[in-house]
Amino acid sequence: MADGSSIEVIPSGAALGAEIAGLDLSGEVDDASFGKVLQAWADHLVLRFRGQGLDEEALLRFSRRFGALDPNPTRPVKVPNHPASNEINVISNILVNDAPIGGLGNSELVWHQDMSYKPMPPKASILYGVETPETGGDTWFYNLYTAYETLPDVLKDRIAGLSCKHDATRNSAGQLRAGFEPEYANQDRPGAIHPLVIRHPDTGRSALHLGRRPNAWIVGLSDAESDALLDDSWAHIEKGGHHWAQQWRPGDVVIWDNRCTLHRRGTLDPAQRRLMYRTQVGGGAPPVAA
Ligand code: SIN
Repeated sequence: MADGSSIEVIPSGAALGAEIAGLDLSGEVDDASFGKVLQAWADHLVLRFRGQGLDEEALLRFSRRFGALDPNPTRPVKVPNHPASNEINVISNILVNDAPIGGLGNSELVWHQDMSYKPMPPKASILYGVETPETGGDTWFYNLYTAYETLPDVLKDRIAGLSCKHDATRNSAGQLRAGFEPEYANQDRPGAIHPLVIRHPDTGRSALHLGRRPNAWIVGLSDAESDALLDDSWAHIEKGGHHWAQQWRPGDVVIWDNRCTLHRRGTLDPAQRRLMYRTQVGGGAPPVAA
């Protein structure tokens, strides 16, 4: 019966993350089931669906249930797009004839929010494991509501009302995107400016909005003042431990709320193939200060 009753929500037990069992994403997801998914997503911020068998069409159909999709981010030179769709970002360490078939390679990725260098960053990202390694390449997620709630008052006061410029020029592996110079002064650096503390448009909760550390700049501060405040804020993240790690199996689909989570990836063994497809659901509006 299409009332969502077959769906089970299994919390990870960590600061965020839950598994959704009993839902096949390869066909149409009925409204009742999707309502349960949305509630679980608001409650747990990151959801995992195991054992899915999706072709590109099914991945795009499920992704569009959350809203209109954003096109892929600008990639480094020589990293190709998915041959059939500009809405599927291929993330892979696989080389064919010495050329990458996707982005981000084997590198470790820094903590980041996807495409926060855009004026309207995506509200959600969805990652589908097509081929996954036996070991390594876990994706870590971090709860930015809890990060804000546990911030010492003195740090809350220091960041109150401030905004940060989010660097557009490099990806989370530190690679230069096509069309940008290797170096910029902070004032001239391409990228969008967003409040450091945002109000989530659906839940109304306050969340830290840090984007990523490299090349970030707090607008109006000197480079040294900005670096000091950002380092203190990121130190709070690093020691907070409000995270959960996704260990990939083929057929896993993971969706995260990009407005209230960070994510990063561990290094990959180049001998183990990893092929992932990622979609981004548009945010539709710029982040709003809390
Ligand atoms: C990403 O940052 O979107 C990619 C994460 C991953 O490869 O696990």
